Amino acid sequence: MGVEVLSTDAMSGASDALLTVTDLRTHFHVGEHVVKAVDGVSLTVHKGKTLGIVGESGSGKTVLSRSIMGINTAPNIETSGSVTYNGTELVGSSRSTMRKLWGAEMSMVFQDPMTSLNPVVKVGRQVTEHLRSHQGVSKSEARQAAIELLKWVRIPEPEKRLENYPHQMSGGMRQRVCIAIALACGPKLLFADEPTTALDVTVQHQILNLLSQQQRERDMAMVLVTHDLGVVATRTDEIAVMYAGRVVEQASTSTLFDDMRHPYTQSLFWSIPKTSEPKHTRLSAIVGRPPNLAALPPGCSFAARCPYAQDVCREQAPELQPTEDPSHLFACHLPVGSDEGRRALEVNVQLGLPQAKSAALRATVAGGGR
Ligand SMILES: Nc1ncnc2c1ncn2[C@@H]1O[C@H](COP(=O)(O)OP(=O)(O)OP(=O)(O)O)[C@@H](O)[C@H]1O
Ligand SMILES: [Mg+2]
Repeated sequence: MGVEVLSTDAMSGASDALLTVTDLRTHFHVGEHVVKAVDGVSLTVHKGKTLGIVGESGSGKTVLSRSIMGINTAPNIETSGSVTYNGTELVGSSRSTMRKLWGAEMSMVFQDPMTSLNPVVKVGRQVTEHLRSHQGVSKSEARQAAIELLKWVRIPEPEKRLENYPHQMSGGMRQRVCIAIALACGPKLLFADEPTTALDVTVQHQILNLLSQQQRERDMAMVLVTHDLGVVATRTDEIAVMYAGRVVEQASTSTLFDDMRHPYTQSLFWSIPKTSEPKHTRLSAIVGRPPNLAALPPGCSFAARCPYAQDVCREQAPELQPTEDPSHLFACHLPVGSDEGRRALEVNVQLGLPQAKSAALRATVAGGGR
């Protein structure tokens, strides 16, 4: 995988690409090792649309987002490939080019609002700072705009809240402030990197709904990053599933759920918490652990955990290839729903592989995820 570069945009013929990522690689040099955190990712974000990036912890979602935004800067980082935003190449571009884009064109909401807010600066100043530096508005105009922004993100009594320090607010309120800051200069592209993992379930839904509402109302494109396939099911137009630094499946949201081909996507699907099931229902966690990104196996990175894997999977890395639908790509030798896949699963059940037994059981009981 990673030799031939496939562009979904070129294949679907779509011309409204806002962001095009081609064969992006971000490698960290750590001592003698090279951690391949992002290893040949290609994707497109269309104007006004939402792309979900889904994968387990450590799959490279944050490194990918930060690399696209150009905020991964350290001497041990090697970035290659191409990221074009509205036709401008961002990989290798100057700090001053990026500064013009940050906030005004693209911005980011981070996982933990406490780390992205300055604890010793009042919320009002943190919101107005961006407006003043980017749009050159006066102090009183910026204050008025900040009040409007806090209203947008449903913060009650915004005038009073501007005088608060971050610690005087709840986690949900702080994340609303971060969203207000990210939206302040009217970006055309917003990255939301696990924006709700630090929050309780009710607040999570409120924040995700707020982001979706803002995305629609502002006709802004959004990249929603999460480990939970359930979160992106109703909130995205397209989904890219990441595993070990690579995209292993990519499709429109409806196609992905109707016709998932990659066993990893299926495993993520099975691990979505089901609200219809009793409270004590446990998540079905994926067997095993992701591979060491500094020593990836020669074949498919998911092979060791895959219910379907055969020798071919352990020996040859599968290429990301299209299905009959050119905008649906997957990288698997023995895909879900195929005859070869079914036979491979039977073989592994016979061999007593725990992940195969549980996959066979899930497929019979749930009938879902193909
Ligand atoms: N500065 C760094 N030096 C070395 N390795 C790094 C560095 N930053 C990230 N990594 C590694 O890159 C891999 C991908 O990390 P990343 O934070 O992108 O994962 P993630 O998918 O966002 O996970 P999570 O869901 O936990 O946020 C991890 O194995 C991580 O240890
Ligand atoms: Mg992350």
